[in-house]
Amino acid sequence: MLKAPKNLCFINGAWRASSSGTTFPVINPATDERIAEVPALSQADVLGAIDAAHAAFGQWGALPARERASLLRTIGDLLLSRREEVGELITREQGKPLAESLGEVSYAAAYLHWFSEEAVRVCGDIIPSDAPGKRIFVLKQPLGVAAAITPWNFPVAMLARKMGAALAAGCTFIAKPAPETPLSALLLGELCEAAKLPPGVMNIITGDAPMIGAALMSSPLVRKVSFTGSTEVGKLLIEQSAATVKKLTLELGGNAPFIVLEDADLDRALAGAMFGKYRNAGQTCICVNRFIVHESVAAHFTEMLAAKTRSLVVGNGLERGTDVGPLINDEARDKVARLIASAEREGARVVAGGAAPAAPSRFITPTVLSGVTSSMDIWREEIFGPVSTVTPFRSDAEAVSLSNDTSYGLAAYLYSRDLSRALSLAEQLDFGMVGINDTAISAVQAPFGGIKQSGFGREGSKYGIDDYLALKYLSVA
Ligand code: SIN
Repeated sequence: MLKAPKNLCFINGAWRASSSGTTFPVINPATDERIAEVPALSQADVLGAIDAAHAAFGQWGALPARERASLLRTIGDLLLSRREEVGELITREQGKPLAESLGEVSYAAAYLHWFSEEAVRVCGDIIPSDAPGKRIFVLKQPLGVAAAITPWNFPVAMLARKMGAALAAGCTFIAKPAPETPLSALLLGELCEAAKLPPGVMNIITGDAPMIGAALMSSPLVRKVSFTGSTEVGKLLIEQSAATVKKLTLELGGNAPFIVLEDADLDRALAGAMFGKYRNAGQTCICVNRFIVHESVAAHFTEMLAAKTRSLVVGNGLERGTDVGPLINDEARDKVARLIASAEREGARVVAGGAAPAAPSRFITPTVLSGVTSSMDIWREEIFGPVSTVTPFRSDAEAVSLSNDTSYGLAAYLYSRDLSRALSLAEQLDFGMVGINDTAISAVQAPFGGIKQSGFGREGSKYGIDDYLALKYLSVA
């Protein structure tokens, strides 16, 4: 059993077990090993965490931004100083290859550092009034207690992205990590403690997701909830937020198209495809779901993609040389297996992989399917696994229309040597983020977020802090 993190919740600056004494297991998805037990908090414990965050808000929100910034920077530095340990922990509980986990730790620290820099640049406004002698001042003030419900695919980075913005804005914070990956999140509590963050400013709670979600959503003390996860849960949170009219940031599902125009540099497109599709075993909201390739290069590009896909090494993320780890759990494996099988039944052709593992294995052989059409389930559903689908197109208009043929609107990708053509198509794509000759679009400086059923609000960048601030206007006569 892994001993590194405390395996207790971090509430009001102290480490707590559940008042009911119950726990739940954390499983390594590669080995099925039970690596830890963490608290299944009671509702009273959750309400206690909300009270603690509420009590801490007055002083934290009033602290000079420079002091909040300095604490955030320290937490980011501490995270980097434990990069190897946190990286290994991520791989053990989440499954991704160690190199990706180490990259995630750096990415997470970069958010803490970025928002420590943004904390001191929350500037209001003075607006000229039409009325003589009157002045209009605009203040930007922290919303209050902010809660985050974070996903298992980037357990540290997504938490840091939300926590950094909230703490920089002057909000106090409650994090509810995914039950699959609570350990690396709880480890962040150790860093907050070491940095001497005032008690109650950061709270990390674990336990039954529906109960905790309902407690957070129904509390009038929680003024803001940021969620990264499925569109289905996002819709539930929208409903639950109505009773107390909470501000929400929702980063939901995606169904990213990857357009290859006939003038694209195919080697470059292939490199982008491999990163954009198979990173984190395809379990990323912005992973490519649909390769939409001009008919004149479709057969060649599909063969290039299939050859490279066959060369990927699948295995335990802790083993050197692993490119693709396991899927997070049995449900994820079953969903991907179902999508491959239904696509084959509906007429798609397997050109690489295609073997869905028998339980209990969660390792899916990276797969390429050609001849995928817009009537198939795999076209509409977010795959969240290492499966590429290829669909040919004839004209630019058809490429745009196929790409936009989804209820999601998170990320899209486009490869072409003709920049003005690419820009024109990018403007027609109904997505919050478009990578042109690029799939490595995640960056702390860039606004991450979607439109349509991929959610609303933006994270990271100079815009991310706005989601934790309220505008207050003063009319001064
Ligand atoms: C996601 O799409 O799941 C977030 C990952 C990222 O920031 O790249």
